Amino acid sequence: CGIVGYVGSRPCVDLIVAGLRKLEYRGYDSAGVAVVGASGLAVARSKGKLKNLVALLAEKPLPGTTGIGHTRWATHGKPSDENAHPHCYGGVAVVHNGIIENHLELKGALTAKGHVFSSETDTEIFAHLVSDALEGGAADLAGAVRTALAQVSGTYAIAVVSARRPEEIVAAKNASPLVVGFGQGESFLASDVPAILEHTRDVVYLEEGELALLTPRGIRFEGPDGRPLEKQPRRIEWSAVAAEKEGHKHFMHKEIFEQPRAVADTIRGRISLEQGDVVLDGIELSEAQARGLERLVVVACGTSWHAGCSGAQMIEALARLPTEVELASEFRYSDPIVGPRTLVVAISQSGETADTLAAVKEAKRRGAPAIAICNVVGSAIPRECAEAKEPGAPRGTLYTHAGPEIGVASTKAFTTQLAALFLLAVRLGRLRGTLAADAARTHLEALRQVPLWMDQVIRQEPSVMPVAKRCAQARDVLFLGRGAQYPVALEGALKLKEISYIHAEGYAAGEMKHGPIALIDEALPVVVLATKEPAYEKTLGNMEEVRARGGLVFAVVSEGDTLAAGLAEVALTVPHAPPLLAPLLSILPLQFLAYHVADLKGTDVDQPRNLAKSVTVE
Ligand code: G6P
Repeated sequence: CGIVGYVGSRPCVDLIVAGLRKLEYRGYDSAGVAVVGASGLAVARSKGKLKNLVALLAEKPLPGTTGIGHTRWATHGKPSDENAHPHCYGGVAVVHNGIIENHLELKGALTAKGHVFSSETDTEIFAHLVSDALEGGAADLAGAVRTALAQVSGTYAIAVVSARRPEEIVAAKNASPLVVGFGQGESFLASDVPAILEHTRDVVYLEEGELALLTPRGIRFEGPDGRPLEKQPRRIEWSAVAAEKEGHKHFMHKEIFEQPRAVADTIRGRISLEQGDVVLDGIELSEAQARGLERLVVVACGTSWHAGCSGAQMIEALARLPTEVELASEFRYSDPIVGPRTLVVAISQSGETADTLAAVKEAKRRGAPAIAICNVVGSAIPRECAEAKEPGAPRGTLYTHAGPEIGVASTKAFTTQLAALFLLAVRLGRLRGTLAADAARTHLEALRQVPLWMDQVIRQEPSVMPVAKRCAQARDVLFLGRGAQYPVALEGALKLKEISYIHAEGYAAGEMKHGPIALIDEALPVVVLATKEPAYEKTLGNMEEVRARGGLVFAVVSEGDTLAAGLAEVALTVPHAPPLLAPLLSILPLQFLAYHVADLKGTDVDQPRNLAKSVTVE
C-alpha cells in the first residue's frame, strides 16, 4: 500500500493525490484522503483506481492544510469503499500499511466496550484505540498513538490525524517502510520516496519502533522507548523513476530482493509452535473433511503451476494425500474426474487468470470443493472460492501477502506460494493425523528460518555473473533437477526464456538420458540443481555424463559441498535446508541468472514482449 501525508500552509489534497499517483504501483484497489480543516475532520474514499477518488474530490472538495492519504493493496477485507483507508473513529483518522495480527481479539474487547465498527479491516482498530486513548486523557496525539501501538502486534506503518490537533500528523513504523521529508514551513510523509520527491529531497527513514510528529514547524522523533531522538536528514540523489524501484534498475530485481520479507509476511501469525500446528486464516476445512479426502488436485498456470508441482510433493510427504497437479487450461477440457472427496486447490498470483478461474468453476460444477492460494485479495478466484456449492464444504483463500508484483516474470509470488503450500501441507498433515505435533514443529521451525537463509543467498548475487555472461551467448540452456528440485528446474527454465528470449528447457535429471543428452555439446550450458537431497549422488552422475560429452556444467550446490562444486565450471551455493523447503532457496540463483542474462541482452525485463502479467483471456 502507499501512504502520503502533508502538514503546512498549502491546500493539501492535490499534493497528496499527486503523491499517491506515484505510489499506485504499490497497490491500487482503493484510495482515500482525510483532511483536518476549519470544520474538523473530513474524509473521501473510493474503491478502484485513484481516478475514482479524484472524481469524488472534484464533486466534494476537501479544504485544509493537514492531511493523509492512502492507496490500498488489500490484506484483510475485500476492496470496497468501506474498507478503503483512511479509517475514522471519534475524530481520529488513520492510514496503515501492514497487518495487525491480533485485530480480532482487540475488536472483540472494543465491541464489548460499546465500539461500533464500520469496516472489515484490521486498520480500523487503530482509530478506535487512538480515540480511546485521547478520551482517556493522553497528553497529546503522539502519546495516544503510543498507547494504541502498545496494544497491537503485527506490522505497521501508520499515519494518524485528529480533529483535536489540527496541525499535527503522527507517524510510526514497525516492519513496513515509512519516510518523512523536511520542507520550509511544511513537512511530508510517505511510505516511499517518489511520493514526495517533487517537494523535498531531505528525508529521514524511520527505523523499527520509531515515531515521528510532523508539524509545519518541523519534525520531532521518538525512539521505541518513547524518548526524543535526534535524526539527521539525508539527501536523495535518485531520479523519481529510480526511486519507485527503491534504487533497483528493474522491478523484477527489487522483487527478488523482497523475497525474505515477503515469505516472512506469508508465514507471519500463522504458525503456532506451541501446538505444532498452523492457522490457515481464511480457509474453512474441518478435521472430518480433511480425513475424508481421497485426493487433492492443484489447478494453476505458468509459475503458479510450478509452485503447485512443489506443493504436491509437500502435501504427499506430510499429509499422505495423493495429489495431482493440472494445468488449468488442460483440466477444464479434460472431462475431469473429481467429486466431493477431491479437494481442488487453485494457485494464482493475480487471482484473475481466466483458465484457472474456469477450472475452479468446472471443479465446483462437478461437486468438488475448491480453495485458493492467491496474492490479490478480493480477486476473481478468491471470490469464486468464498462460496461452497454444498453448505459447510471446504472453501476460502489462503493469501500469500507478497505485496504487489509488478515484474511480469513472477519471483516473490512463487516463493510465497511455496511457503503457503508448505503451511497447507503441515495443516493437512495435522488434521489427517499423518504428522505428529513434534514433527510439525520441526518442519515449522525450518520454515521460519527460510527468510534468513534467503537473505544469505541474495547476498551472493555477484557470483551469478560469470554464469549469466556465458548463458547470454547461448542459443539454448538446459536445467536439470530431481525430486524437490525438478519443479525448480522447470521454473528456472521458464524464467530464463520469459525475459531473455533464450530457449530453455527444464528436465528431470534422470530423464536426461532419454532425450536431451543428444543436445549436449560445448555450446550448451547445463544448469544442474545438485543440492544434497535424496538421490543426490545420481544427480552428480548426471553432471559427469554432461562433462563427458563436453557440455558446460553450472550448478547450484549445498554450502560446503566441494564434491558437487568440483564437478561444475561455476557453483552457486545455497544454505542446507530440509528437502521440501530447498526450492525456496535454490530458485533464487536461477532468478538472478535469468535477470542478469536478460539485462545483459538489454531486453525489456519487467515487460517482456508478448507476455502479460495476468492473462484474463482463455
Ligand atoms: C502469466 C504470467 C505468469 C504467471 C501466469 C499465471 O502468464 O506472465 O508469470 O505465472 O500468468 O498467473 P497467475 O496470476 O494465475 O499466477
